Amino acid sequence: AEPWGAPALPSACRGCLEPAVRRLTRPVRRWLGVAPFGAPEKLGCAALPLSGRQQELCRRKPHLLPSIGEGARLGIQECRSQFRHERWNCLLAAAAAPAPVPAPGAGPLFGYELSSGTKETAFIYAVMAAGLVHSVTRSCSAGNMTECSCDTTLQNGGSASEGWHWGGCSDDVQYGMWFSRKFLDFPIRNTTGKESKVLLAMNLHNNEAGRQAVAKLMSVDCRCHGVSGSCAVKTCWKTMSSFEKIGRLLKDKYENSIQISDKIQRKMRRRDKDQRRIPIRKDDLLYVNKSPNYCVEDKKLGIPGTRGRECNRTSQGAGGCNLLCCGRGYNTHVVRHVERCECKFIWCCYVRCRRCESMTDVHTCK
Ligand SMILES: *[C@@H]1O[C@H](CO)[C@@H](O)[C@H](O)[C@H]1NC(C)=O
Ligand SMILES: *[C@@H]1O[C@H](CO)[C@@H](O)[C@H](O)[C@H]1NC(C)=O
Ligand SMILES: *[C@@H]1O[C@H](CO)[C@@H](O)[C@H](O)[C@H]1NC(C)=O
Repeated sequence: AEPWGAPALPSACRGCLEPAVRRLTRPVRRWLGVAPFGAPEKLGCAALPLSGRQQELCRRKPHLLPSIGEGARLGIQECRSQFRHERWNCLLAAAAAPAPVPAPGAGPLFGYELSSGTKETAFIYAVMAAGLVHSVTRSCSAGNMTECSCDTTLQNGGSASEGWHWGGCSDDVQYGMWFSRKFLDFPIRNTTGKESKVLLAMNLHNNEAGRQAVAKLMSVDCRCHGVSGSCAVKTCWKTMSSFEKIGRLLKDKYENSIQISDKIQRKMRRRDKDQRRIPIRKDDLLYVNKSPNYCVEDKKLGIPGTRGRECNRTSQGAGGCNLLCCGRGYNTHVVRHVERCECKFIWCCYVRCRRCESMTDVHTCK
């Protein structure tokens, strides 16, 4: 199939902004709105755009406020970084713009990607849920909490015969995962309509897939002791991977995400009948609707299109002009850079540089 063409709108998205669907995207939608606040702890829970239950959780655990803000920032930043060369580049309308805070349930701000049930929706939910696990767990390990700390189950363990023991502070993701579930996985009791039931099940599944990615990428670090680095004894601890690595795993899950049937049965099923026997794993990303191609602007859905995006003329990949510009071609501008160069240190004490100019071609989509 041609990679571009008429923008396909997922048919099941007709009801995207139905009240029920809006209610069901509220937890993450509100929380995404926290990201633009630089220091949420200074404002307090009440000032933040959180939903009722999130407010309550925030008030009960006010010391977690910095982690809540940091988790949102981490998730959004990683989403942008993973998708920076793609047609859909994770520019979430309201998250991109700083305050004013979007009014609750306001139009298509945060509308499309959060409620369309596409692969992009799946990625956002997963990366945001993972961001919260990561930031809360960090805070636990830093000793900033009373209800969680380092993983104490590992203390005094290890293997003397192999010459190592657990020591230091092992990250304990269990509390972070618990908090992320509490904060984001709201059961919607009175959901009506098949469509919102499927979307809800999908969102909850993808939240959990994000958390599983953090747990799966836990690794072990060790430090050697012993006479002049002989490594006779090692101290080891468990540590979370960098969030960038977690983002890469989730991006990979996104590329291999599974379309599920929009007919909800007792449990979710693959849409592809031939593959129904292959079980769905809890770390798979799931989606219901096909994505549009994100090529052309659609103000109503909040899709900016790729016109004006910078592209790479020589790349055949996602960021290449061919794919990114959807076959419309590109403009070339010459950009002049001026920088300090050939700097020399002059004794003593200053640095003398020359001014160097260079020209580079910048290509942007038509
Ligand atoms: C722990 O708390 C201190 C002081 O409030 C803060 O500066 C630091 O950033 C916190 N660390 C984490 C990982 O939350
Ligand atoms: C949910 O539905 C039940 C019964 O249909 C009703 O009693 C209850 O008030 C509803 N709850 C909400 C939050 O709408
Ligand atoms: C453009 O793509 C080529 C091939 O993938 C790569 O080697 C090069 O570094 C890219 N240029 C920029 C500016 O990203």
